[in-house]
Amino acid sequence: MSHSVRDKVIFFTGAFGLIGQEVATYFMEQGARVVWADLRPQNEVIRVLHERFDEASFLVLPLDITSPESCQQAVEQATGYFGRIDVLVNCAAIDAKYDADAPMNQSRFENYPLEALRQSVEVNVIGTIVITQEVCKQMLRQGHGNIINVASTYSLVAPNQSLYDFGQGTIHYKPVDYVASKSFIPNFTRYLATFYASENIRCNAIAPHGVLHKHGEAFLENFARLSPMGRMCEREELRGPFEFLASDASSYMTGSVLTVDGGWTAW
Ligand SMILES: NC(=O)c1ccc[n+]([C@@H]2O[C@H](COP(=O)([O-])OP(=O)(O)OC[C@H]3O[C@@H](n4cnc5c(N)ncnc54)[C@H](O)[C@@H]3O)[C@@H](O)[C@H]2O)c1
Repeated sequence: MSHSVRDKVIFFTGAFGLIGQEVATYFMEQGARVVWADLRPQNEVIRVLHERFDEASFLVLPLDITSPESCQQAVEQATGYFGRIDVLVNCAAIDAKYDADAPMNQSRFENYPLEALRQSVEVNVIGTIVITQEVCKQMLRQGHGNIINVASTYSLVAPNQSLYDFGQGTIHYKPVDYVASKSFIPNFTRYLATFYASENIRCNAIAPHGVLHKHGEAFLENFARLSPMGRMCEREELRGPFEFLASDASSYMTGSVLTVDGGWTAW
């Protein structure tokens, strides 16, 4: 039961995002072959990949997970290049922004715009399903597969809105769209796990929280006060949990949600 991802073919959606970049790069350092799929591939990151890694070990693909045609094309290209997809990591998602200067506080539940809600559901729910459908067709053809969905603590608990109160008078809240769309992930994970358990495809989720990235002082202070471990997550701390789920060390795990949240959901 190896803990290694060496030689595994790993298809990453949202590969150029904060978490995607960190984990996809780490997987390549460990000898995996990685499909970097994203709506917005970044030239600077691609340049570094070409510098650091063998061309045969990665493939960059433009992908819109909300488009069935785009998903079908990406899966065809990935399997054409690598012959199979061992692991799908569903990392692509949006954390929709709202207009903080709008006359009405749009982040309040009763004011949150329907269009923004629809957009989050389109990407985080429908898009996640569409790309998974396409990859599952390939996993069924090859007779095995492993899916890792990226959830959030807000898939499991409500936001503590005081995290977003910076004492400036106007309180902005974590809006409902993210909670609504991400709370789909744990049960989708259980759905896939049980649907495919007899067909050698397993599915688990990781629920991270608060990955450190250019956060302001007031946010960091609030976070430290509310978090059992008193700090945000360093992005390197996500490597081990992702590697564990992507490797054969977790071979008897399916349908579980691994929290990587410094204890946020423990109290
Ligand atoms: N960063 C955190 O603190 C945190 C905490 C908990 C959960 N998460 C979850 O982790 C995952 C990654 O988050 P992140 O912080 O890296 O976000 P990010 O915004 O940095 O990256 C998301 C990536 O998804 C891509 N994307 C967006 N729409 C797409 C589409 N339609 N098709 C294909 N790609 C698309 C974006 O281009 C981007 O590169 C998300 O599912 C998020 O909900 C993040």
